[in-house]
Amino acid sequence: MFFRINRTLIPVLLLSLLLVLPTGAFAAADSILLVVFGSSEPSARAVYAEVQKQIEAAHPGLPVYTAWTSAHLRGTVKKESSEAPEAVLETMKAKGLKDIAVLPLLVIPGFEYNEIVAAMQAFSAAPGAPKTSLAQPLLTLPEDMEAVAAAVRDGLAASRTRGEAIVLVGHGTHHPAVVAYPAMQYFCTAADARMYVGTIEGRPTRDEALAVLKKDKIAAACLVPLLAIAGDHAKNDIGGDEPDSWKNVFTAAGIKTRVQSAGLAQNPKVLAVWLAHLDAALAELN
Ligand code: CO
Repeated sequence: MFFRINRTLIPVLLLSLLLVLPTGAFAAADSILLVVFGSSEPSARAVYAEVQKQIEAAHPGLPVYTAWTSAHLRGTVKKESSEAPEAVLETMKAKGLKDIAVLPLLVIPGFEYNEIVAAMQAFSAAPGAPKTSLAQPLLTLPEDMEAVAAAVRDGLAASRTRGEAIVLVGHGTHHPAVVAYPAMQYFCTAADARMYVGTIEGRPTRDEALAVLKKDKIAAACLVPLLAIAGDHAKNDIGGDEPDSWKNVFTAAGIKTRVQSAGLAQNPKVLAVWLAHLDAALAELN
């Protein structure tokens, strides 16, 4: 049975349907700013470029800019055109962009994230400032940690030997957001009984992580950077030739140790978590 609809109501019905449908969901955003830490490693900068490409592919028509948070790296890597977030935001404003979604390619909401928040607040305080929306870092919500744990485990499925443990090595921080790492351990254990988390400069420490592996009688381990890119820390602290690198300390402890040389941004399922955070920031500009 059909309802008889008054023809004059049809445009009204169509209009209300358009308001409900999620078509053109990101119509209000006109640009994206990707904020990365920065790196002195050309191979790491190639990963940043690849991430930018993926963002452009996911959001055709929206120009994507990049900024570096590390003042030290901005000073040393002069040939790279990346500037501080506040400088790039001013450039975007000068180009007439009005609705900017910002994606920090950061792992936890620590000091760098706070710096981006502060830069955006200062930028937004000026009269006539564009609207901005900031996406969350990778490991913010439990669902993110769950997805990243599964993505890392799945990414190693083909190369993993029987009984081999996965040890995620994070940067670590003095910021309270350091609790993301023990939280991540919870979701890693849920994803795989032989998945562990340690950090270079925070807790759990390398020795704390190693103690747990020993308690669990682990004989082989793959060290995986819990870092956006496999830059200086991955090369030296995790896989370096110095006796105190993670690889050598674990090996000296009797664990057959190998190192995965890719950062998180090179795992498509992990990158998808960052891109989903960007989608949420874009949606906020509506
Ligand atoms: Co560092």
